[in-house]
Amino acid sequence: MRITGLRLHNFRCYDQVMITPPQGVTMLVGENGAGKTNLLEAVHLCCLGRSHRTSFDKEMIMNGQETAAVQLTVERNDGRHEVGVRLFENARKKKVIYVNGKTASKMGELMGHATCVIFSPEDLALVKEGPQARRRFLDMLLSQHQRSYFYALQTYMGVLKQRNALLKSGDARQLPAWDEQLALAAAPVVRLRREACARLNEWAARHYAYIGGREEETFSLQYDSALSEAEDVAERMLQGLNAGRQEDLRRQYTTFGPHRDDVALTLCAMPMKAFASQGQMRTAALSMKLAAFDLLETAQREAPLLLLDDVLSELDPERRRRLISRIGNAQALLTCTDAGDFIGAKPACVLHVEKGKIKE
Ligand SMILES: Nc1ncnc2c1ncn2[C@@H]1O[C@H](COP(=O)(O)OP(=O)(O)OP(=O)(O)O)[C@@H](O)[C@H]1O
Ligand SMILES: [Mg+2]
Repeated sequence: MRITGLRLHNFRCYDQVMITPPQGVTMLVGENGAGKTNLLEAVHLCCLGRSHRTSFDKEMIMNGQETAAVQLTVERNDGRHEVGVRLFENARKKKVIYVNGKTASKMGELMGHATCVIFSPEDLALVKEGPQARRRFLDMLLSQHQRSYFYALQTYMGVLKQRNALLKSGDARQLPAWDEQLALAAAPVVRLRREACARLNEWAARHYAYIGGREEETFSLQYDSALSEAEDVAERMLQGLNAGRQEDLRRQYTTFGPHRDDVALTLCAMPMKAFASQGQMRTAALSMKLAAFDLLETAQREAPLLLLDDVLSELDPERRRRLISRIGNAQALLTCTDAGDFIGAKPACVLHVEKGKIKE
């Protein structure tokens, strides 16, 4: 897919900009704080309805302004898709989603029109930090992959919230009814995560071998869930909830279910987090993101947008060359502070970013 227009209004440091990057790689060069990541964030917001770096939408509104808007148009095999998001400073106003010129009634309607994979230095958290970072990675990816995943997850989280509220109230009489609902809601989430992880594992292992350049190092990514092997997920979930009921009542929250899932990452069968070097962790995170790209590309039969934030400068020249060769002719927006970081990538376009202004 190709970006034919990206428009920002009162978004972070941009009062009003519009860019129309050409096919291929567009390189955004500028000093620290110039506004490069802000542009990638705007694309991410259009694809997923949220930022990749904050869960507070308001932060994206230009200081002192009431509202911010972003709009992205992409050309796909099946034609033109236009998506947009408007944010409001006023807490009583909900963010508004636009799809092809109409206001969408649900956030889910945004998913899958423009899709992206973002690479950033914070990706290291995928390997280094707790399960939440990896669940978020799966959730962001699968929501774009299949809208039904986004809805399934929304339903599950909604029921979970109600069950937790019930646990807090100490009233156990209604629990069996909620358990049943939660078990039913868990099933599609677990199934899609399980399928996706199996495919991501194959791709990620291949990318790791290629980018890392060491054949003896085998990287593996496995869905790590109490429900990963269950044939009947809802049934197994119900058993888990029953078994944990006393514990749940004591702790006042639900201790069993896919909201506690993880993705286990290993290098040569050893847990990455404890044993891998910084460079190996970086390669693992990069391989996971490339696998995410493969998953979307295969499912949609066209490449998603690639957003590469400051990743080249962190790689040695050989790894950099291998990563660039993987981009192929997908549309990519790439940021760097120094044009020298980009050697070997042959950008179609170089844009200079300076204090919220973009110049060719
Ligand atoms: N809500 C906002 N309103 C106005 N300006 C903002 C807002 N949020 C962030 N900024 C400004 O945006 C700039 C940061 O932009 P961004 O993170 O895109 O920089 P960058 O070019 O990616 O820098 P680096 O190379 O350090 O990653 C800062 O100057 C910051 O003051
Ligand atoms: Mg940045």
